[in-house]
Amino acid sequence: MSLPIRDELKNVSPYGAPQIDVPVKLNTNENPYSPPAALVEAIAKNVAAIAGGLNRYQDRDALHLRESLAGYVLRDTGVSVSREQIWAANGSNEIMLQILQAFGGPGRKALTFSPTYSMYGEYARDTNTEFVAVARREDFSLDAELIVSALSIHRPHVVFLASPNNPTGTAMSLDVLDSVLKAAQNTIIVVDEAYAEFRREGVDSAITRVAKYPNLVVTRTMSKAFALAGVRLGYLISSTEMVDAVQLVRLPYHLSSVTQVVANTALGFASELQKDLDQIRSSRDEFVVWAAQSGFETIQSDANFVLLGQFSDRHAAWQALVDRGVLVREVGPDHWLRITIGTASEMEILKKALLEVKGL
Ligand SMILES: Cc1ncc(COP(=O)(O)O)c(C=O)c1O
Repeated sequence: MSLPIRDELKNVSPYGAPQIDVPVKLNTNENPYSPPAALVEAIAKNVAAIAGGLNRYQDRDALHLRESLAGYVLRDTGVSVSREQIWAANGSNEIMLQILQAFGGPGRKALTFSPTYSMYGEYARDTNTEFVAVARREDFSLDAELIVSALSIHRPHVVFLASPNNPTGTAMSLDVLDSVLKAAQNTIIVVDEAYAEFRREGVDSAITRVAKYPNLVVTRTMSKAFALAGVRLGYLISSTEMVDAVQLVRLPYHLSSVTQVVANTALGFASELQKDLDQIRSSRDEFVVWAAQSGFETIQSDANFVLLGQFSDRHAAWQALVDRGVLVREVGPDHWLRITIGTASEMEILKKALLEVKGL
């Protein structure tokens, strides 16, 4: 007997990259470095310290964590925000779902620019929000004309702009964002900065525009730069009005005390984690140069992954890499594969395998 599931969910598969057990996993844009030993020890100690109080519900509003996040935002971007301008949840996925729960819904529309992170369409589907994806320019960039004209054609309530974008790695300039914000004062503009900490020198964060535009929301995550994908901690930086709005739709006690204490502990280690970020950035830049010299095409990336092509049969190329123990992601435009930057030894194995599968 089939269950009376919503029509939109019929014959749909759950989101997720294949989890295949191979030696080199470069498919989900994780940080390849484990958290440093001192952080692991501090997490164990701090979790043990609260474990005896787990019979009680925790601080529902995660005030202490939000205060620490505000401190980190100031250090990373030079922008001073209050904890009331920050909201935290289980991954930036949950943050963006909450944004559509508050600002989307029946009769409302969300807009994005493809290729981009495919979860935007799922948040829209799950909140009964109409979803429109407009194509990016040929080189995957975004410009003010493209976005402003899509805004006037589609009149969305919420716009998702990933910068750096997944899967292309491309960042949007703040001049473009400024034009969009001027043209869209009644639209919620979400700039998804999941990969912001990997941006190249001179690429600024949209957080610098938050004070001026209450409808701008910047989302970030500790899954990538902080090497904490398994913790599930994402956050937004916006106006206090925005934080008030998402609090209306959050589930009671949505963010566990264990998550809060682990995230808070890791924030204290931001400078220790910096050297791994620097390493990932320089490996990425080296990989882009190597790829071009080896006859591949790539796109300059501000993230911890690179789009690499072009393969006439990308599925065959993906499989051939798996056969050589390397898992990458078959996602985004045809003929391209998305490759997460790994450790130095993983990159050596990857390069050797890529040279072997080149003609595919
Ligand atoms: C563009 C983008 N945004 C958001 C996320 C979600 O990250 P998380 O829910 O782990 O914070 C991802 C994850 O890969 C992503 O690629």
